[in-house]
Amino acid sequence: MIGGAVGVGTAVAGASVFAANNTRALAASSDTFTYPALLTGTTSGTTTTYTLDMETGTHDVLSGVSSSTMGFNGSYLGPTMKWTNGQTVQMNVTNNLGADTTVHWHGAHVPAKVDGGPQVAFADGTTWSPSFTVNQDAATLWYHPHALGTTAEQVVKGLAGLIIIEDDSDATAALPSDYGVDDIPVVLQCLAVSSAGDIKYNLSGYLTSGLDFPVLCNGVNVDNTTLTFTATKTRTRVRLLNASPADIITVSRTDGGTMTQIATEQGYIDAATGVTSIRLVAGSRAEIVLDLTAAVTLQAVITTGWVRGGSGTYEFLTITPAATDTPATLPSALNTITRYDTTAFTARTITLSQSGTTMLINGVAGTTMAAMTTNMITTTLNAEEIWTVTNATQLEHSFHVHDVPFQIISVDGTAPTGVDLGWKDTVEVVGGSTVKIAMKFTDYTDDTYMYMLHCHILMHEDEGMMAGLMVETS
Ligand code: C2O
Ligand code: CU
Ligand code: CU
Repeated sequence: MIGGAVGVGTAVAGASVFAANNTRALAASSDTFTYPALLTGTTSGTTTTYTLDMETGTHDVLSGVSSSTMGFNGSYLGPTMKWTNGQTVQMNVTNNLGADTTVHWHGAHVPAKVDGGPQVAFADGTTWSPSFTVNQDAATLWYHPHALGTTAEQVVKGLAGLIIIEDDSDATAALPSDYGVDDIPVVLQCLAVSSAGDIKYNLSGYLTSGLDFPVLCNGVNVDNTTLTFTATKTRTRVRLLNASPADIITVSRTDGGTMTQIATEQGYIDAATGVTSIRLVAGSRAEIVLDLTAAVTLQAVITTGWVRGGSGTYEFLTITPAATDTPATLPSALNTITRYDTTAFTARTITLSQSGTTMLINGVAGTTMAAMTTNMITTTLNAEEIWTVTNATQLEHSFHVHDVPFQIISVDGTAPTGVDLGWKDTVEVVGGSTVKIAMKFTDYTDDTYMYMLHCHILMHEDEGMMAGLMVETS
């Protein structure tokens, strides 16, 4: 499932034990960059069918130490899917995990019944077969389990994959799109693992002593190695996903140079924008292009979340150009994002709080479907809303809303600038702060199935920081 061998040679002997603060100035070794394979669908008429098998297995998340893991169509992570705007997708997802699960298409604008929230959990040995029409512009999404109380465990054990949405826009036509050649995926994960390889996912696990905090790029441990990718085109597009359970990952070049950001989580930004770092909270994505005439190394600075350890700097990927082509100038406009005028929008307040280790939204812990229903946010088709999301805790939260993209309106009263004007589905809400976001509930209604809103720090989600969201017919 992973293109090429995973963890090609554990090149550095005795590299499995690291201190919690693992700052590595020089690459000790290098391994070839590998990435999840593309999943080929079967197309009949206008419908493309994709098959995902959720399996258990083993994988070395610490170099040379085998861990019990889970994956889609393999033992760790999952293949990348390419969906095209307008296409009908039929998913056949089989659960062979030995436990209930669901699969949520994070960032997809699809009906609630096929969104894969906890309400549609399916049992071991069964197959879930949702079908929907892709109804959104080009973006980098991902998919992962979402069953009640087990999301963190199943995601950190490896159940995560990318979805690339393609469309017929001029920007898409102008940008690199040859998967694995000039369009490469980077799935970053910061885990917490015992020296015996037991992957931790909850409070008691994180409070065990002697943990390692490996950082993985596409499933390959980069604690002591920098992966190498030879670019056969001068321009390389990199799709970044922070699939960590909690940690914030800031990506930059080791030389401090500029990266050209082209997309936030929900698609292209108005114009390509030079940035020197990209801060990704848990669940976030971004896309960049790099026009290279000399090698560049990307590094991830990990800022630990919640009670975890593991902060540090990790050089994860060196891109070495072996190309002579001159890329065309990027289009001056990649997208046209009309900023919402929220004057007439319906206001709603979302308070993130905690009671001990129980996490709350508007005072309720979403740890049961009953709580999700009583604490449900109910809106109507085409409603335009502005949400004031207040973080009443001292902890970091990564606020995520299913169904529709949102715009950041303000952060502690200050309007966003630059790439923060792009379409989002996940936003950082630091301790004590207030973020205003605005969205329109277009297209889909249901009076039985709900979407979710929650913290994407997966333990917080499992500990109750989640609520239902139902879009009803007006
Ligand atoms: Cu990526 Cu409701 O989640
Ligand atoms: Cu989601
Ligand atoms: Cu949180």
